[in-house]
Amino acid sequence: MSAPDYFEVFYAINPWMKTETPVNQELAMSQWQKLKVALKTRAGAKISLVKPVQGLPDLVFTANAAFVHGDRAILAHFKNEERRPEEAYFRSRLEDLGYSLIEPPVPFEGAGDALVYDGRLVLAGYRQRTEVSAHQLISLTFDLPVLSLELHTEHFYHVDTCLCPLDGGHLLYYPGAFDEYGLKVIEANVPEEKRLTVTAQEARNFACNAVQVGRFVFLNQPSARLTEALRRRGFEVVGLDLSEFLKAGGSAKCLTLRLS
Ligand code: ARG
Repeated sequence: MSAPDYFEVFYAINPWMKTETPVNQELAMSQWQKLKVALKTRAGAKISLVKPVQGLPDLVFTANAAFVHGDRAILAHFKNEERRPEEAYFRSRLEDLGYSLIEPPVPFEGAGDALVYDGRLVLAGYRQRTEVSAHQLISLTFDLPVLSLELHTEHFYHVDTCLCPLDGGHLLYYPGAFDEYGLKVIEANVPEEKRLTVTAQEARNFACNAVQVGRFVFLNQPSARLTEALRRRGFEVVGLDLSEFLKAGGSAKCLTLRLS
């Protein structure tokens, strides 16, 4: 994770970002602290930090740093110039943590666009931020099958904004973010009883941008319906208020990068 000392919205690279809407920085810091404390105390997560850097407001979204698998990671290469300076900071922190790093030759936005499902395949997004050829690099590097899902709306520009694999082969996702073919791919690979879809309203609240650790699922302002649906599948929902980060188009999952 990376603390929001310099978090704000002074450029707009997705439709959630409005430079005229001010971020309450104090509130952002307390929301971020609560997420961090909840991950530690509820789920026993160990947190490694990346030092905040002035002028890089989106560095808080560490999900985009890299796709980490085992002791190797494919680093991000951001599509937008605004985020490119983050690459060096993520690279040096991951090096310190002992990962061997691979640099992609094309735009690729890390765990924002590539998620391991059921330990056996990668569900990866493309078109908005990540080039589809980066998926081939993931597949060849880690010897894992990758299912490429086209993201066809600007609001759900990273696959982790509209899809979240959960333990036990469960999959939380927002059908409205995918085209017909993408939905077919999901349906062909995820058994029906394991699929849990969210509504448009839940999706806009970043319901799919959830972090799961053990039986806990951390997410922004969950609906009663979703809380109950997850509970029936054996998960305990920890609701958080991450309103300030929604202003930049991110939420719980974007604010974290899973290292192991
Ligand atoms: N403002 C950031 C961007 O547009 C938000 C990134 C959210 N991260 C994520 N993994 N979805 O790049």
